[in-house]
Amino acid sequence: MTFNPIEQACSLLLCPRPDEKSASALALREHWHASKRNKYETNVLPENTPGRPEKPDLVLPSEVPRRRLGSPQGRGALLHAIAHIELNAIDLAADMIARFAGHPLIFPDFQTDFIEDWSRVCAEEAKHFNLLTDRMESLGVTYGDYPAHNGLWDAAFKTRHDIAARLAIAPMVLEARGLDVTPGMIKKLDKIGDQKSVEVLRVIYEDEIGHVRIGAKWFQAIAEMEGESPRPYFHQLVKTYFAGQLKPPFNVQARTLAGLTEDYYAPLANC
Ligand SMILES: [Fe+2]
Ligand SMILES: [Fe+2]
Repeated sequence: MTFNPIEQACSLLLCPRPDEKSASALALREHWHASKRNKYETNVLPENTPGRPEKPDLVLPSEVPRRRLGSPQGRGALLHAIAHIELNAIDLAADMIARFAGHPLIFPDFQTDFIEDWSRVCAEEAKHFNLLTDRMESLGVTYGDYPAHNGLWDAAFKTRHDIAARLAIAPMVLEARGLDVTPGMIKKLDKIGDQKSVEVLRVIYEDEIGHVRIGAKWFQAIAEMEGESPRPYFHQLVKTYFAGQLKPPFNVQARTLAGLTEDYYAPLANC
């Protein structure tokens, strides 16, 4: 069968099994690298709801149980919550390709760069999911053991019609929030001597700076193409599509490294 990254991203989205979804994300990246990087079009539309396993149960964010890091199960539960985010992040990156690689602002001139960036993100999210589930296993926890919430995919669904809104919310608000909270988790795990989990979170943290950078880069490019000034446009989109204000304290250093300067997020903060 001829490789078409948009169609492969659509079928990855539909895949309900986490292990197959993550293998398919890694395969998408490999196939993309082995391909001639033609221009791709398709009539296949991405699904609005990705394939998901029967477990975990999806509950409201307030119903996700609190975790005590002192026990292996508690740490496993923390890693489970992050693994769930990573599984959603695989879908978000695949959806970026499936839904927007044929967008009139992307196709044909910028499509190759766009797929290069988002297939990288997709494969790295799969790597994160695999690292976490391997570590969880040694702590006696399997993906699906704890309830999880659907907040990340809900945000994707709300912005499915608007590439600028998707970029503003998914990488520049939600993934950037990951940069704020991960160092604190690393510190806590380090303090209790769980070096293996610390190593996993460090890999994730470094990669996620790159994901925010890719998101901010494409957001700025799209804003320019639409004749908008990036910062006020970002503020307007976040107010429209994100419920609530952004939560400080911010990891200014990591955000700046990712190209997200304070004038993007500070005016939206609940200080
Ligand atoms: Fe990730
Ligand atoms: Fe990410």
